[in-house]
Amino acid sequence: MTLWGGRFLEKSNQLFKKFNTSLLFDYILVKEDIIASIAWSKALMKSNILTKKEQEKIQTALFLLLSEIKNDKKDILMSGSEDIHSWVESRLIDQIGDLGKKLHTGRSRNDQITTDLKLWCKKKISLLLKNILALQKTFVLIAEHNYNVIMPGYTHLQRAQPITFAYWCLAYVEMLRRDVGRLEDAEKRLNTSPLGSGALAGTAWNIDREELAKSMGFASATRNGLDSVSDRDYVIELLSVASISMMHLSRFSEDLIFFNSGEANFIELSDNITSGSSLMPQKKNPDALELIRGKCGRVYGSLFSILTILKSLPLSYNKDMQEDKEGLFDTLQNWNICLCMAALILKNIKINRISCKKAAEKGYSNATEIADYLVKKGVTFREAHNIAGRLVLQAINEKKSLNNLNLSTFKLYSNLFEENIYENITLEACLTKRISKGGVAPEQVHQEIIKAKKRLHII
Ligand code: ARG
Repeated sequence: MTLWGGRFLEKSNQLFKKFNTSLLFDYILVKEDIIASIAWSKALMKSNILTKKEQEKIQTALFLLLSEIKNDKKDILMSGSEDIHSWVESRLIDQIGDLGKKLHTGRSRNDQITTDLKLWCKKKISLLLKNILALQKTFVLIAEHNYNVIMPGYTHLQRAQPITFAYWCLAYVEMLRRDVGRLEDAEKRLNTSPLGSGALAGTAWNIDREELAKSMGFASATRNGLDSVSDRDYVIELLSVASISMMHLSRFSEDLIFFNSGEANFIELSDNITSGSSLMPQKKNPDALELIRGKCGRVYGSLFSILTILKSLPLSYNKDMQEDKEGLFDTLQNWNICLCMAALILKNIKINRISCKKAAEKGYSNATEIADYLVKKGVTFREAHNIAGRLVLQAINEKKSLNNLNLSTFKLYSNLFEENIYENITLEACLTKRISKGGVAPEQVHQEIIKAKKRLHII
């Protein structure tokens, strides 16, 4: 039975029925719909719309329904209900008869759906926060274990200046830290209950909406019914937080795919997250990383989809908004999986410290140190930069690294160079000099690791 048959003389067209239903995806909200319905029944009792006995009967039936919900949702999907709200209500009426028909007093599916969706988001946010923290911890532990592995740092994918593997890990800890901040911020704003907003203009019954909100774990009730049933800002915010975080995971994937390439050979990915080729026996492909990178694209798609759906929609609820759910469900589920997958990949990588160091030694990544050396002796940075650049050219012509040029060659470019130039341009010197906050110096990285461990409760 539909929830709205009275005004209609004709039955729904079968194609329309299929087109209109949301049950195939909103069944995910079944628990939230039941929990919110129990809370609503209590609010109705407090306003004397239901007697205590009636409320108890409704509540018992709803709890029974909740306990009967299995992982396999086949019975829900096969029911032919229009959406999850109709399914819960019709199951309630099946169990307790006409009394079940009282539950919808003063409420609308418009406030119901957004309440259910917010409850579901809150549940997912706590799981996401847990998984982001777990990934941060993995990065910090890998940083600690590879604290003195020197590797090249890149700009424009050209070797730029030496860094350490630990420093690279801590860059991702920072990105994930901002993701946590954004997620917590989005959570604060979505933590208001729309229930009791009715279809759009509030409920005509004497409901204590603040008490109702708190009973479901919300911080407070929303302040305007028209806005409450129209608002999907929280969906947009979550999808944009997800997009940014997935972009971080995608850059992480790209970095590791490159580090794992035959050309770089900085790391080896574990067998348990790679796959082989059906044709080329030697292949070990970084599928897990490529999938993370690929899934980032569909998350962006969902963000653009909801932004486009809501653009120009008149207030308040419109059926277009039913299209908010699939992208959101898909995104939060995939984001969670990608966070877990990234941690799994990271935990099992082998770092090839010799190739990392060899690569750092090549590429003239200590050229800046030569310029800085001259600056310390009073040369302007621009002039020093030019001399160092010409020395790089000289080294390229001699097929040598800068460290292997003779002192007499250095002196051809400036007689300020002395024997101590060599100790100033070792890889270790490049690192240790960068001791100020945020720098790559091992001592500074070590302090950051300790701080991160404290913050993440690893120690
Ligand atoms: N299935 C709907 C949705 O997902 C629930 C709200 C329906 N409201 C309505 N007035 N038809 O948005």
